[in-house]
Amino acid sequence: YSVFRLALHPGLCLSCVLSSHVTECFNSPYGTKYFPEYAEKIPGECTQKLSEVAKECSIYLIGGSIPEEDAGKLYNTCAVFGPDGTLLVKHRKVSRGRSTREVETGNPVIHLCHCSLPFTSQGCQLLVYPGAFNMTTGPAHWELLQRGRAVDNQVYVATASPARDDKASYVAWGHSTVVNPWGEVLAKAGTEETILYSDIDLEKLAEIRQQIPILRQKRSDLYAVEMKKP
Ligand SMILES: *[C@@H]1O[C@H](CO)[C@@H](O)[C@H](O)[C@H]1NC(C)=O
Repeated sequence: YSVFRLALHPGLCLSCVLSSHVTECFNSPYGTKYFPEYAEKIPGECTQKLSEVAKECSIYLIGGSIPEEDAGKLYNTCAVFGPDGTLLVKHRKVSRGRSTREVETGNPVIHLCHCSLPFTSQGCQLLVYPGAFNMTTGPAHWELLQRGRAVDNQVYVATASPARDDKASYVAWGHSTVVNPWGEVLAKAGTEETILYSDIDLEKLAEIRQQIPILRQKRSDLYAVEMKKP
């Protein structure tokens, strides 16, 4: 399998976070027929490795996702580790669900999710999606969705896709991307395995929120989004 890694490193305006992330079901070929064979427990061999890397590099590590086996059931699960290697949070994908996990990194606040909500009101500054779009949805929606989420939530959006393998049964689109809250693409990978670096500039984020004060103009007296515990 190919593992795509995306690293968000501390830029001028971001002092404390180094996140590295691997993609959706990265320990397995992508496809439901493979998942039973590649599924692991969490904690298990694969997440142990991720924990070691987080500790070794002293980074927050968003471990893409792996097929997880628990009590005979399979889940598509993302595990996040802190700089001391601790498992901070485990997020199981909910199909078409609106579920999210917040990771306290101090700054920025990171949300992991598979479906975006108006996160800004929850203090979110960076949305991270490990994903594997295919050759139809990729060219049509991959970048569009990221830019859309970035602008409508006024957040940074980072995605990690598997590199493209034309011989795989599931051909991923590739093109891991980082988008700023203005909708501009800051960094974008090609189809091959690579490392992307991008600065997450929280001052710019604050500026944009100032310029277009979506939050302050929101009519919470007319509508609200409710988050339920999974
Ligand atoms: C990609 O996924 C979409 C949505 O599930 C599906 O309609 C399409 O046929 C798939 N395309 C390829 C090339 O597998």
